[in-house]
Amino acid sequence: ENDYSLRPQSFNEYIGQKKVKEKLDIFVKAAKKRRENLDHVLLYGPPGLGKTTLANIIASEMGGNLKVTSGPAIERAGDLAAILTGLGNFDVLFIDEIHRLNRAVEEILYPAMEDYALDIVIGKGAAAKSIRLDLPKFTLIGATTRVGLLTSPLRDRFGVMCPMEFYEEDELAYIIIRSSQILNVEITEDAAGEIARRSRGTPRIANRILKRVRDYSIVKGDGTIDLATSKKALKLLDVDSQGLDSIDNKILSAIVDNFKGGPVGLETLAYFIGEELDTIEDVYEPYLLQKGFIVRTPRGRVATEKTFNHLKREIPKNYIENN
Ligand code: ADE
Repeated sequence: ENDYSLRPQSFNEYIGQKKVKEKLDIFVKAAKKRRENLDHVLLYGPPGLGKTTLANIIASEMGGNLKVTSGPAIERAGDLAAILTGLGNFDVLFIDEIHRLNRAVEEILYPAMEDYALDIVIGKGAAAKSIRLDLPKFTLIGATTRVGLLTSPLRDRFGVMCPMEFYEEDELAYIIIRSSQILNVEITEDAAGEIARRSRGTPRIANRILKRVRDYSIVKGDGTIDLATSKKALKLLDVDSQGLDSIDNKILSAIVDNFKGGPVGLETLAYFIGEELDTIEDVYEPYLLQKGFIVRTPRGRVATEKTFNHLKREIPKNYIENN
């Protein structure tokens, strides 16, 4: 089975993100009542929280087709022009990592979003002429992990802004139980709770762990998932008691052991542990911040008391006061 089969197909099936879901449900219903396309939507937040899933649901609720692409995949203005002219009314164009569109491509997008128009320049120099083509009434759904990197003209052209948040444990447990039913595997409530607690607030991670725990249980157990099986499988997967993986722990122990608890700049830290800066910033840091393992200061990232305790290190005298 693929990931797609675990994705909810409607707002009713979609668990969590209460605020985002409520807004989108209303705006979709209003657009349908007016028989107009939905205004452009920007979904932003850490990866794996259901941005693509929401785009799927919106397209199906609007009765349009979904075209999926990404910022880095659209290299030239002509590539985007080809995509736009291939759309129909009520279709949804989903652009993932929209902060990575290049300038020339982004400029095609402004009149497309605002006026549903495509400006084409024909000829060169003094003889150059611009002609305007009408585009269908489509909805652009942009997704990004880095809303701060969007240019303001692009950001300003989205009528609906949706910040995606980490999921609560009970929401994740519910998602895990739903996924187990789809995967046809028995799971106890406490096992679902344990996996939920250790999934970094992220459904994509919860579903991935669930599949690996299922594998473990098929080979080492009776194919059903209980608390003991889950704990053993999580240990094998290097997911610790707080749900942190080996890279999280590498980051934390570098700050504590090599930079005296910080402050340390993210770039220095990335270089030191040999990970991509972007990955640390987009994937790892948001969860560590949210859980209070690190704090941001003007001089860099600082480990907290919780981090010293988690790593079983002694907190230096006056450490907290000095940071
Ligand atoms: N599977 C992944 N994300 C989900 C969500 N938000 N609701 C239900 N099932 C999911």
